[in-house]
Amino acid sequence: MLFRTLILRTAALKPVERMVRRSRLFRGLVGRFIAGDELSDALKISEDLAARGFKVSLDLLGENTSSHEESQKAVKTYLEMLRRIAASPCAPVTNISIKLTQCGLDLGEDVAESNFREVLWEAQTHNNFVRIDMEDSRYTERTVKLMERVWADFQNTGTVLQSYLHRNDDDVETMIRLQMRTRLVKGAYLEPAEVAIQDKAKVDEAYVRQAKRMMEAAFYPAFATHDEAIVEQLKAHATAQSIPKDRFEFQMLYGIRRDLQDSLLAEGYNVRVYIPFGDSWYPYFTRRLAERPANLLFIMKSLAKG
Ligand code: FDA
Repeated sequence: MLFRTLILRTAALKPVERMVRRSRLFRGLVGRFIAGDELSDALKISEDLAARGFKVSLDLLGENTSSHEESQKAVKTYLEMLRRIAASPCAPVTNISIKLTQCGLDLGEDVAESNFREVLWEAQTHNNFVRIDMEDSRYTERTVKLMERVWADFQNTGTVLQSYLHRNDDDVETMIRLQMRTRLVKGAYLEPAEVAIQDKAKVDEAYVRQAKRMMEAAFYPAFATHDEAIVEQLKAHATAQSIPKDRFEFQMLYGIRRDLQDSLLAEGYNVRVYIPFGDSWYPYFTRRLAERPANLLFIMKSLAKG
């Protein structure tokens, strides 16, 4: 946790961001986690993965938009993503994950909701699904409430819940009550102790408890983690409770634990790979670095080699 805090704080410094963006050295590492700058880069990877039996979710990188023009631009890209997916052979297994702040949540809940509804209309015409990623805790309550409102009109959507949040057991029950498709993650943001569990072992404990609850009662939940010990516990739980493999899916990020993605697929589980693309990759990239000391060691070694 200390390591994660240190990396996220350092990465947020503007001179560090400038250095990373300019460095050729980081480019290789960025390419491990991000499909490319263009939608066509992401679609090419999706088609390869779909041909191998994976499911896919495409993510346009970028977070808070601070003007109506920016949020309109993001919405336009979301609509284009849905149209291009519909025309691709990966269409039956490919959906999109989007962020409410990209839809303009900082400009007002009404702005984000109306943009989001426009995306859902388009998705509906293509028989597709749109997942709302969960951002930092300033947005949790607004996201849950907005999802509840939109759910009354659109069922081709779902959201994400974060196990590190103290409130999360309650949110899990809300999603079970609604029977809304929900992805469970541990949580990737830097949060204060009043809001989130700080001890990693306790976050893992909460994750397993909530995942088991969702496996038993939620509608087609997604367990998004690269934690092999947790994946094993969930597989064992499904077997013990006679929960069929097609009632849930595992999700992992592009470029992380490909070995585990392959072995789960070979065992007959649904596995969805989350594929980020676009030129606003910096915040996503630093969250991935912060998750694993070895990623930073890789950079240090490359720096040492010149
Ligand atoms: P943990 O961090 O404990 O890692 C377990 C093991 O996984 C590590 O020991 C390592 O082997 C491997 N691993 C994990 N991260 C790695 C990395 N970056 N590089 C290399 N190996 C790594 N968060 C959020 O707040 N909101 C969201 O909407 C989403 N959405 C989302 C979608 C999907 C499909 C995934 C997989 C994850 C997210 N997340 C997220 C991120 C999530 O909250 C969490 O930060 C990461 O998944 C890392 O946590 P793990 O569960 O993998 O476990």
